[in-house]
Amino acid sequence: MAVYVGRFGFRLARQGFQHGKGRIMQRVMMESTYASAQPRLEEVREEWERFLVEPQQMPEPKIDEPRSKIGKEEPPRNLLEHHPEEIFHPPEKLQENAHIRGMDMYQQLYRESIEDLDRYWKQVASELYFEKHSDKGLEWNFDHRKGDVFVKFLDGAKTNIAYNCLERNIQKGLGSKIAYIWEGNEPGDYKTITYSELLEQVVKFSEVLRSKGVRKGDVVAIYMPMVLELPVALLACARIGASHSVVFAGFSADSLASRIQQAKAKLMKRYRCAMNSGSTGTPKGLVHTTAGFMTYAYHSVKTVFDAKPEDIYWCTADAGWITGHTCVVYGPLLNGLTSIIFEGIPTYPNGSRVWQIVEKYKATQLYTSPTAVRSLMAYPNEMVTAHSRDSLKIIGVAGENTNPSAWLWLHRLVGGNKCSILDLYWQTENGGPMITPLPGATPLKPGSATLPFFGIEPALVNEKGDQLEGAAEGYLCFARAWPGMARTIWRDHERFVKTYFSTYPGYYFTGDGAKRDQDSYYWITGRVDDQFNVSGHLLSTAEVEAALMQHPDVVESAVVATKHSSKGQVPYAFVVLAFGKYLTPELAAEIKQVVRSKIGAFAVPEIVHPAPGLPKNRSGKVLRRILRIIADGDQAKNLGDTTTLLDESVIEQLWETRPDIKLNANE
Ligand code: PRX
Repeated sequence: MAVYVGRFGFRLARQGFQHGKGRIMQRVMMESTYASAQPRLEEVREEWERFLVEPQQMPEPKIDEPRSKIGKEEPPRNLLEHHPEEIFHPPEKLQENAHIRGMDMYQQLYRESIEDLDRYWKQVASELYFEKHSDKGLEWNFDHRKGDVFVKFLDGAKTNIAYNCLERNIQKGLGSKIAYIWEGNEPGDYKTITYSELLEQVVKFSEVLRSKGVRKGDVVAIYMPMVLELPVALLACARIGASHSVVFAGFSADSLASRIQQAKAKLMKRYRCAMNSGSTGTPKGLVHTTAGFMTYAYHSVKTVFDAKPEDIYWCTADAGWITGHTCVVYGPLLNGLTSIIFEGIPTYPNGSRVWQIVEKYKATQLYTSPTAVRSLMAYPNEMVTAHSRDSLKIIGVAGENTNPSAWLWLHRLVGGNKCSILDLYWQTENGGPMITPLPGATPLKPGSATLPFFGIEPALVNEKGDQLEGAAEGYLCFARAWPGMARTIWRDHERFVKTYFSTYPGYYFTGDGAKRDQDSYYWITGRVDDQFNVSGHLLSTAEVEAALMQHPDVVESAVVATKHSSKGQVPYAFVVLAFGKYLTPELAAEIKQVVRSKIGAFAVPEIVHPAPGLPKNRSGKVLRRILRIIADGDQAKNLGDTTTLLDESVIEQLWETRPDIKLNANE
């Protein structure tokens, strides 16, 4: 049985979604493969409306008046300049009290974790509650030639993630602690909910689900924006042992339908399922399991974000993405944190909204996407300095490459040189960060995701699958299993094996390329499918994009290869310019010069296309296949599925702004 919990009455806005105050309707739609269950739809809707239309009155939080600092804080000079070799050491204050203090401690723990994976992960799991324990640790086979590919962790153990998030914390005395602060799109709209209140709501909603026939093993598809009822719905499913598949609330009807279609695969026992971002092909229902996901989410949020009881943690991800599962719902609750859920648009009513929220709630961690950072960078620096960011300790970014300019902007301007800026590398398939700095330990290099997390063994391999040693560039794989990894693709184990284990048998292949430098730091070079060959050089799009963004007038960029009648393949750059800038021939020449000096003449884009925006999906990833078609000038070509785009009108604007230069026979 699949139940679809929706919340309507919001309208899609350019950068996400928002809803008008007071115009919200709550609904539950219930569907079943069994026709006999269909009439329940209305009943469930009514019940859900009764449940939510009269929300509990939340106590007002005690929040200081925002302190305006306009004109008092000078933005730093030479904000984005840095020497490529420059290393940023952990701020002393952070290092003193961190869970992982200093590199020696990291290295020792890392060594121990690799030497005895089972001991390490069992120790972490022992901090959580298990109704039934297991003697087993991590068991896996990554080599399909030796038998079925599988991963197991604590096989036979019994636990409940909702219990670990709620009752376990309440028993420790956190009942009256605020679990979530919800901030609406309209500044001034907020609510809070304590751990005890959250449990109460979860119990009520799990009763609603139960009374409507949802049982252990059923799949519940949840379709609602970032409101407090969202974690309530997720936890209620987890509490009764139903699986949930969260569909991002901004998806169009078609996209929702394709995900519901997948969720119709019912009776997913004990599993939770997260769709990956679907930036290519059809969405994959990645199956995560409770004990493994819980252990990894708990430990990674605790150590990577150095979670402390007094923290106000803010992850801006939507719960429809894995980052929202790990870092909005489960990770923070498992750690007993207070976190912020923001339903609005980061630039509404203006470009300082994010900093306003940081100041208002005294957020200690901010975790967002590089794309959001770049869009905030496009606003004047005064939008940041107008608000106090004194409370911030850690700023995390993940989901794509963070170009050094964005990193430096976060470090120097937002963090005032006293925050740790973390570039976390991971995937939906991973459940949590895989290559990541630790704030009190890792010396940072802008643009690098740095070093592996505990128990993670990255491997760089060449085309033949040979493992490369020392400083090298290759295909990024993982040589051992970890608890948080997806176990299969829902109802398509063959696709799981083919996608991740067939290219390099014996390894989990990420699909990404990476470089490892002389200090063993990892630098992600992008999806290997996006790399291309120019005059015999293999070019990583990430590298050219990072160079382009070193020009102060370039806010965003995406580089693709396009066909050239005489040169074969050439780089074609889409650049989004800073507010008020236009692409003059002089500016185009300057931009190309940055690439020439940072990488080399061969990497200089043949065309610089001043783009009004980039075609992104709703997690902020650029859909390059669309850009390739535009670069090729192939107007007749079918663009494929564009329903996951944040703003479909950008495609037309890109065709309109495409420079009128013929590169190949398509035009
Ligand atoms: O290409 C890598 C990129 O995002 C992909 C995973 O996306 P998704 O499944 O949506 O999960 C996002 C969870 C954060 C990866 O295969 N990616 C993710 N983090 C980074 C990154 N690329 C560069 N640097 C990163 N820190």
